[in-house]
Amino acid sequence: MKLYATLHNSHNMLYFCPQMTKILDGKALALTLRSKVKEEVAVLREAGHRAPHLAAILVGQDGASMTYVNSKEKDCQYVGFESSVYRLSADTTEKDLLSKIEAINTDKNVDGLIVQLPVPKHIDATKITESINPDIDVDGFHTLNVGKLTIDEDTYISATPFGVIMLLEEYGIETRGKHCVVIGRSNIVGRPMSILMSQGGRDSTVTVCHRHTHDIREFTKTADIVIVAVGIPEFLKASMVKEGATIIDVGITRVDADNKRGYVLKGDVEYASVKEKCSAITPVPGGVGPMTRYGLLHNTLKSYKKKLNL
Ligand code: GUN
Repeated sequence: MKLYATLHNSHNMLYFCPQMTKILDGKALALTLRSKVKEEVAVLREAGHRAPHLAAILVGQDGASMTYVNSKEKDCQYVGFESSVYRLSADTTEKDLLSKIEAINTDKNVDGLIVQLPVPKHIDATKITESINPDIDVDGFHTLNVGKLTIDEDTYISATPFGVIMLLEEYGIETRGKHCVVIGRSNIVGRPMSILMSQGGRDSTVTVCHRHTHDIREFTKTADIVIVAVGIPEFLKASMVKEGATIIDVGITRVDADNKRGYVLKGDVEYASVKEKCSAITPVPGGVGPMTRYGLLHNTLKSYKKKLNL
């Protein structure tokens, strides 16, 4: 709870109005959206259509990647999608991986294909993303789809930026003419996020900060919206944000802790202190993460409908 000197009474005197910080509840929104997908799939099946089908390839045994792929599989089951998960050993050759992708690319009953990143070092990740058929590239990582995003053509928007946009829209966060600072310039989050925020419909003025930015605070202190995707726990402090800003935390890192699980999940934002200063914030967990998971379902359904001319 904070006090804002925002309103004047009939004697034109300032008085203080208590304001609650909006918690942008991605978990609840994703649940609602996922249920809608489930209902839509049930109707499609009832009408005699096959189920949408997402294929995922995981190479190796990276703990976080295994968790993500398991979640994606669970989400598919929940909404009634078919899912095929190919768990390949860490020493799979690039050639074998490319053959697997090619086999899936030409399977007309697969609507979406993702290769979980990162891939082991002996495999060229760019070569892999470029080998996925752009029509079923539901991650939106292929250069053709990135290019379409850049010129505002219809495409698959990568799941995390898509989820963030949905959250901002759902909670009625004004973006037009606002200064949006994106911290991080990754191909998966920061770069597409910055493009989307400046596009027509959102119309923000965007600054992209990254590891070579001299004084990030100088930019974040004037930002109306801060989107942080750096993977450094509690990177964004209260002293770096403007009173009343909207804060989107994309980070989620396991930090060792003395509890049963042995770790706690931390975002890129120092949540407790920033929450007291901003007007809206995403929690971690339960903010952007569930929306990312929804984004993949959305893109797979989009591909499916296009294939079946629905
Ligand atoms: N690794 C981290 N995020 C992602 C994602 O959204 N898609 C894929 N394929 N790999 C990832």
